[in-house]
Amino acid sequence: MRVEERRVSTKRGMELKLRTPTAEDAEKVLAFRRDVAGETVYLTRYPYEIENSVEKEREIIGNYLRAEHLGMIAIFDEDLIVGVTSVSPVGLNFKTRHRASAELVVRKQYWNLGLGSHLLDQAIELAENCGYERLELSVFADNARALRLYKKKGFLDCGQIPQAFKMMDGTYHDEILMSKNLWRH
Ligand SMILES: CC(C)(COP(=O)(O)OP(=O)(O)OC[C@H]1O[C@@H](n2cnc3c(N)ncnc32)[C@H](O)[C@@H]1OP(=O)(O)O)[C@@H](O)C(=O)NCCC(=O)NCCS
Repeated sequence: MRVEERRVSTKRGMELKLRTPTAEDAEKVLAFRRDVAGETVYLTRYPYEIENSVEKEREIIGNYLRAEHLGMIAIFDEDLIVGVTSVSPVGLNFKTRHRASAELVVRKQYWNLGLGSHLLDQAIELAENCGYERLELSVFADNARALRLYKKKGFLDCGQIPQAFKMMDGTYHDEILMSKNLWRH
């Protein structure tokens, strides 16, 4: 599902643009994913695990553009992608296809400008437009910034998985599962 370009203002008055990435943005999306994976511990992949080729990324972006049950939105500062959210089904079988899962990431230099909040609103709207009944997020249990944002937007804590994430230094982080009932239901 495609979201057409529109303007977004940050808390500090910067004017940015928001839209669904297209095939021509594949290299920018990959660069964004590699950069953010190295900026925070709170993503599930290390930078070396971002392995897609540009062709593969183009294919993935194409799927997000075409499929009615998928959506991706990026915020652009000129040519630089500074934030991404996406919505995809938890499962395609009847019993799970009413549930969507969302990702949400903002480049560190752009944190605390309201972009995470704006992208999450967009993800909720996208999930509703795709016909989903619930939107779900997985979050590191010590990720206070993300937890605050999700609770503010009405996501409920649905439980915790101990030691869900193992780090290269041998430490672990628990995972909190969060879920929100969408307006149509
Ligand atoms: C989580 C993330 C998306 C938030 O993006 P953002 O653009 O900074 O979000 P916003 O500016 O809209 O809101 C941040 C909120 O956190 C609050 N905050 C900032 N630092 C905080 C802290 N240390 N503890 C708790 N809350 C904090 C801010 O005050 C703000 O809340 P407010 O709007 O009520 O004032 C971003 O930090 C990020 O991409 N982190 C790395 C990846 C990640 O954690 N993704 C989520 C995976 S589930």
